Amino acid sequence: MDKIVSLCKRRGFVLPSSEIYGGLGSSYDYAHYGVLLKNNVKGQWWRAMLQERDDVVALDSAIIQHPRTWEASGHLAGFTDPLVDCRTCKLRFRADLIDQAQCGRKPSKHPGETPDCDLTGARDFNLMFETTIGPVAEEGSTVYLRPETAQGIFLNFKSYLQFSRKKPPFGIAQIGKSFRNEITTGNFIFRMREFEQMEMEFFVPPDEAERWFGHWLEQRMNWYTALGLRPDHLRLRAHDQQELSHYSSATSDVEYLFPIGWSELEGIANRGDFDLTQHAQFSGQKLDYVDTASGERYIPHVIEPAAGADRALLAFLVDAYDEDQIEGESRTVLRLHPALAPVKVAVLPLVRKDGQPELAGEVYRDLRERFQTEYDEGGAIGRRYRRQDEIGTPWAVTIDHQSLEDRTVTLRDRDSLAQERIAIAELGEEIERRLRAPWRSPKLES
Ligand code: GAP
Repeated sequence: MDKIVSLCKRRGFVLPSSEIYGGLGSSYDYAHYGVLLKNNVKGQWWRAMLQERDDVVALDSAIIQHPRTWEASGHLAGFTDPLVDCRTCKLRFRADLIDQAQCGRKPSKHPGETPDCDLTGARDFNLMFETTIGPVAEEGSTVYLRPETAQGIFLNFKSYLQFSRKKPPFGIAQIGKSFRNEITTGNFIFRMREFEQMEMEFFVPPDEAERWFGHWLEQRMNWYTALGLRPDHLRLRAHDQQELSHYSSATSDVEYLFPIGWSELEGIANRGDFDLTQHAQFSGQKLDYVDTASGERYIPHVIEPAAGADRALLAFLVDAYDEDQIEGESRTVLRLHPALAPVKVAVLPLVRKDGQPELAGEVYRDLRERFQTEYDEGGAIGRRYRRQDEIGTPWAVTIDHQSLEDRTVTLRDRDSLAQERIAIAELGEEIERRLRAPWRSPKLES
């Protein structure tokens, strides 16, 4: 993990937030390449949910919802973690994770293990961030930053039935920020207080819920492997009865083998009719579906694949990170799926003279119409390749003296290091072709 954190900072993927003020616990800013990478992760999720299907529609709901939302959803009463304070070191710990925490004064021990530790009993701590609406904090003005994007979908279910011309089985998908006042943070962007979720609520006739649950388990696993995650680093783990959330009759986590061990990447839950029933009761609105043909009326059941954009990005980075040797020199390379790579192609003149920068500029302006492209003429060519390898750019175009004679260039592959000579006129098509081709992590071969 240290290597990933250091690469992210060095190359401008993810930076500690508010660093000039000493940082803010578990808050991170996405820098240039991080923004591009995360946009690609989210773009691929939208693609799988919307473009490649005709039974899912999109939503972008408000972060601050009516406070009754969280009464109905159960978050106000039950979205809590058990918290323990140490009166000696003043640190706070999650009571259920205390065996994984480090004592504030003696990090080789767990809290409670030294004679100086003075722990309070466990008390429940609600993870929702509270704020107020309006200029004065008065009764009834308390609202919450949403702890999940899902509830915004349930609140809009009725409107979607009316305008979207969809009927169950159909889904509503949303990507957006969620906020949780986590007690235990750390592990870089794995657990933050402000993060992005990619959630989809799939509404189905009750007797089809089990089948659709299986369908979404398969779809979501395929999404990660098609984007290059190594299958032996990915698994599905079913929750046992005690672990299930209050709303769920079945949940399986997609887990990835992070450097911190197997950990949750995404949860896929059968939420039954819990949410729509609760919101119908709390709002007084009917949230059932009436089949106009048969007259049948029912509250749809919901299958929910709930992923984290930041965790997915972290898994893709971890899976792509590699080190190898080229001609006796070590290099760091991100073997990202080309569809995820922040920059698809770099254009590099071999030397900064003899008309090469001018021709390279022409090639660059042409390619950037079609792909995220970067131009770099500073420093030795080897160092420029390394820089692109470190940010995961799959292809580099080099303009050399021959390019000025016959308008051909070399196209270098990040993984195989093969360099092919190709006409400038064919470059765009060739890169398109490579981008569309199936891709497998080269780390699987090694
Ligand atoms: N609507 C269901 C729900 O929110 P969840 O398992 O609590 O389920 C879904 O969250 C996903 O959101 C997780 O699998 C994870 O990827 C991401 N996530 C949750 N808490 C997070 C946090 N504190 N930091 C980063 N990602 C988080």
